[in-house]
Amino acid sequence: MAELALRHAVSATPLRTPGAVAHPERVAPPQPLLQVDGVSLEYRTPERVVRATHRVGFDVHAAERYVLLGPSGCGKSTLLKAIAGFIPPVEGEIRLDGRRVTAPGPDRIVVFQEFDQLPPWKTVRENVMFPLLASRTLGRKEAGERALHYLDKVGLSKFADVHPHQLSGGMKQRVAIARALAMQPRVLLMDEPFAALDALTRRKMQEELLALWDEVRFTLLFVTHSIEEALVVGSRIALLSPHPGRMRAEINSHAFDLQSTGGAEFQATAQRIHHLLFEETAQ
Ligand SMILES: Nc1ncnc2c1ncn2[C@@H]1O[C@H](COP(=O)(O)OP(=O)(O)O)[C@@H](O)[C@H]1O
Ligand SMILES: [Mg+2]
Repeated sequence: MAELALRHAVSATPLRTPGAVAHPERVAPPQPLLQVDGVSLEYRTPERVVRATHRVGFDVHAAERYVLLGPSGCGKSTLLKAIAGFIPPVEGEIRLDGRRVTAPGPDRIVVFQEFDQLPPWKTVRENVMFPLLASRTLGRKEAGERALHYLDKVGLSKFADVHPHQLSGGMKQRVAIARALAMQPRVLLMDEPFAALDALTRRKMQEELLALWDEVRFTLLFVTHSIEEALVVGSRIALLSPHPGRMRAEINSHAFDLQSTGGAEFQATAQRIHHLLFEETAQ
């Protein structure tokens, strides 16, 4: 397997530069885009220290849909905040493109669960433009164009000039996704983005997210406590134990989509995950 990967990497090496010589032994395997390496996270209050995660480690490669799955309180949101750069690890390290994450940056954008993440006094288009302007990524004209481009991708170009209160919960989440994608981050971080939606809208949003991923191929780190959502949305899933969160297993889920939810293999995998998450003795 490793040999195969190496051969593939060698054949992909450009050999056209005059005088260039291939050195197979120097071809490094592709570096993961995001590396979470033995990360422990804590909250310190004057009275006590709460350990949210304990030595959690995983790698996310470009264009993966990586899911963090675990029960409420296992530290998923805390991990996402640490990756976003808001909470420093007390142990271990988080690296993006090999560089240690020490602060928030436009290369990591978070979409939250709450519907009120959009300032209500800005129109939909202005909401999407705002981070592009605030980070000086683009000027007004280009930001406006890029905002419309991503609003179109989430099916909301007709709503560009309305205010968030005129939108449903699902539409507000689409705006938040467009706003995040417009920044063209290295990793899109989503913290239970559909958890507050009704079941039908949630399913529709999962479907749309997958269609959007098919088109744009962004790298996604998605947090959920729903086993079914993890299997549908993810290509790989990290299972975290209850508080404090530790890595319990990694599951390959690229074979599943919304069409497979009723199938025997999907149900069997969901069962297996359930055992891994909730039974101490399970392997
Ligand atoms: N601001 C905070 N101060 C102290 N403890 C916190 C704070 N936020 C979260 N926690 C604790 O850290 C643990 C992990 O929380 P969280 O990351 O929100 O879990 P999840 O997102 O998996 O539900 C929980 O025990 C929670 O009570
Ligand atoms: Mg959470």
